[in-house]
Amino acid sequence: MTSIRELKEKAGQTVRLCGWLQGKRSGGKVVFLVLRDGTGLCQCVVEAAIPEAFSRALSLTQESSLAVTGTVRLEARAPGGAEIAVTGLETFQTAEEYPISRKTHGIDFLMSNRHLWLRSNRPTAILRVRHTVIRAIRDFFDGQGFTLTDMPILVPGAGEDKQSLFPVDYFGEKVFLSQTGQLYLESACMALGKVYCFGPTFRAEKSKTRRHLTEFWMVEPEIAFAEVEEVMDLAEDLICQVVAAVLRQNRDDLILLGRDPAALVRIQKPFPRLTYTEVVDLLRSEPLRQRLGVEMEQDTVRLSGLRAEMETCETALKTARPGWQEEKLEARQRELREEIQDLEQDISVRPEHIRLAQSFVWGKDLGGSDETIISRQFDRPVFVTGYPREAKAFYMKVDPADPRLVRNFDLLAPEGYGEIIGGSQREEDPGVIAESLKAKELRPEDYAWYLDLRRYGSVPHGGFGLGVERAMTWICGLKHVRETIPFPRTLGRIYP
Ligand code: 4AD
Ligand code: MG
Repeated sequence: MTSIRELKEKAGQTVRLCGWLQGKRSGGKVVFLVLRDGTGLCQCVVEAAIPEAFSRALSLTQESSLAVTGTVRLEARAPGGAEIAVTGLETFQTAEEYPISRKTHGIDFLMSNRHLWLRSNRPTAILRVRHTVIRAIRDFFDGQGFTLTDMPILVPGAGEDKQSLFPVDYFGEKVFLSQTGQLYLESACMALGKVYCFGPTFRAEKSKTRRHLTEFWMVEPEIAFAEVEEVMDLAEDLICQVVAAVLRQNRDDLILLGRDPAALVRIQKPFPRLTYTEVVDLLRSEPLRQRLGVEMEQDTVRLSGLRAEMETCETALKTARPGWQEEKLEARQRELREEIQDLEQDISVRPEHIRLAQSFVWGKDLGGSDETIISRQFDRPVFVTGYPREAKAFYMKVDPADPRLVRNFDLLAPEGYGEIIGGSQREEDPGVIAESLKAKELRPEDYAWYLDLRRYGSVPHGGFGLGVERAMTWICGLKHVRETIPFPRTLGRIYP
């Protein structure tokens, strides 16, 4: 069996391809089949001169599974640069009427049919990028002497905060799904020095946003004898390496997704570093308010432009000839409808977001809309450091220079994508940790083992967590995090 990816090197040879029927066109004495095998698409030409294959081809339905035998012909106009002149055709199964047709479906329908939707061009492109991202992450840490150490998923207590824990019945005892591998990873760090864990994590977030999943994959490095600045350098290098790998290996996928690679080529270090306090001043500043006002006016003009194009499109459709002309107009109409809806929605929340930014009070964590505003001002990721202690998790190191702050950072992806990494140096003083646990209403007895790490050879150390799906949403330029994982779990969706 040959895969479609290899065809270009096999001109003139006879091959056998196995796959699924993505599309079909017939014109008199010839049928064109578009076969998909997971490595690419290939046009297979079946001529009436081969009657058995020809009649089988005519009766094939979308997504039927089949094998074709034939000769490879180089053909510049064919997708992938080669096509097959078919001599034999066998079907594994003739598919029933496929629910996902060429016309655009709503997102709810597609998500309910995610098990089938995965076969379409966009999802497969995203899955290929996901593969690259995960491999690049592992190559990065493996190449720098980190040891991969897996951490438990069933845990007795909170790793971040109490609010977003998923309870699980553990033989009559209430335990939880892990929110982070970090606390356990710190023990491995004291054993091996430089470690990382990479696994699924869970947050019972009751927020229905474009950024939240309840189950997502996080990679977390932890390094001994390191201060927060060194941890930030590591995060910067990781992001640059991951983006470079995607640019190298998935340029075609990015283009298929409508993502301009130029936005990623810009991702070079150093990334800007701002303190939380500087960000608060920026959010409340008059120049920013004015800039946001101008941005909103520009978007309102863009919206009128889209609406005008929509009208033109609708008028043209009334007189369009059935066939490709009509199809093309309808496709554009659907695109426009979606763009208009998104932009209307975006513009409608903008005044409230500007109001929230202008009235931001020092001491709170940055909200999603604040992150959007800040990260829209930059063309590369931006570090925000030194958050107020009460806004962040109990384990972060209190800043000796200003005890109101912690030695932490968030990395915000540009273009409004917001937080993709959260990290910090870890508190070493068991007394300070005990105090923070109390303030966050966490039970000290659940963390006795964690405090042990501070009693037996404690060292300055730190690390971070990168959410794979958040990073991918930005890299692929998607509107919603749910497309980045094969089977997204969100508030209100657990099927299929
Ligand atoms: O900022 P977070 O909560 O940090 C931690 O869990 C630390 N223990 C990590 C560490 O220092 N080892 O989460 C880290 C990242 C976020 O920046 C985001 O990318 C992702 O995890 N994340 C989510 N992704 C999708 N859906 C959610 N609900 C997410 N919550 C966090
Ligand atoms: Mg965070």
